[in-house]
Amino acid sequence: MAYQNPDIARVADTLKSVFESLDDKRAIMRSLELGSLYDQLKTLPPDQKAGFGKEVNELKNELQSWVDSVVETADEHPSIDITAPFDINVAVKDQPVLLPASQGTIHPLMSEVEHIIGILSRMGFSVYESREIDDDYHMFTSLNFPADHPARDDYDTFVTDEGLIAPAHTSTMQNRILRAGKNDLVKNDLPIAAVIPDRVFRNEDLDARHEHTFYQLEGIYVDHGVSTAHLIAVLKSWLGAYFEKDIKVKLQPFYFPFTEPSFEFVASCVFCNQKGCNICSQSGWIELGGCGMIHPNVLKEADIDPAAYSGFAWGFGIERLVMLKHDIEDVRYFHSANLKFLRQFK
Ligand code: DAH
Repeated sequence: MAYQNPDIARVADTLKSVFESLDDKRAIMRSLELGSLYDQLKTLPPDQKAGFGKEVNELKNELQSWVDSVVETADEHPSIDITAPFDINVAVKDQPVLLPASQGTIHPLMSEVEHIIGILSRMGFSVYESREIDDDYHMFTSLNFPADHPARDDYDTFVTDEGLIAPAHTSTMQNRILRAGKNDLVKNDLPIAAVIPDRVFRNEDLDARHEHTFYQLEGIYVDHGVSTAHLIAVLKSWLGAYFEKDIKVKLQPFYFPFTEPSFEFVASCVFCNQKGCNICSQSGWIELGGCGMIHPNVLKEADIDPAAYSGFAWGFGIERLVMLKHDIEDVRYFHSANLKFLRQFK
């Protein structure tokens, strides 16, 4: 290509003459000569800028096309078969050697989640995922949190500059699930029955019981004439199956904006069968999470008539259930990637 401007033409010639000898052909794009043309562009009077800039750009495109013609993209990113077991890909040139898949296991938290949702799906609940980035409407407004209500402070989490939220609970899915299920509920008389096991985020001081990232199991059930008795029966059956023992249940009054009445769900200690131990602080009872009857405003917000339908919901921390089941003393083990911890569950 012939360049009108003598400076640009000279740089083009120089770069062409060195291109062959370069080991890394892409270095030409970062060459001082090309950079100096951009520096020169800044100093030019306005009436010369457009013409000069256009030619520099043409040169840049020409250089890029030389690079593209010799640097094969296949060399840069050797292809891997993402559907293969991961050790098959180890043989690929320049890839780090990975542990063979035979030494890997499913993470204990994930296998417990499978077990937990297995029980609930046999009880008739559909399983949904939540979002890892959400908005104020699903985090608060659709759940009957008035604007500026102090209850929002209990869900201190991470927010982007644009106002997107790393959700602090899985209740963010309630409005979506109610809306999605409304048609079948009203037209076909099918109850809404869903669970959401997924990851949530909180701005916490970390200790043996608190993580910034953890899992919750949300549940939601809506039909004609649903009462607190249904809530107790469903949760008692589910937890009895998970802990493989008959558990006693207490509901303690609590407050959540999205349930009325709201409760703390308390179960008889799965360790000592209420004889008193360290886990239950000698009380014989352990608190498993929040629950309640879905607030009429939450149903209305999803266009479901609270005079015709009612429902219950619950939200439990999954790590807490797993810690109780397997006698794990510190929640931080789950994300620690500590092999001593993980291998116990192989
Ligand atoms: N979202 C609540 C929390 O994270 C837990 C919860 C309480 C969920 C009551 C519910 C519920 O669905 O009904 O603190």
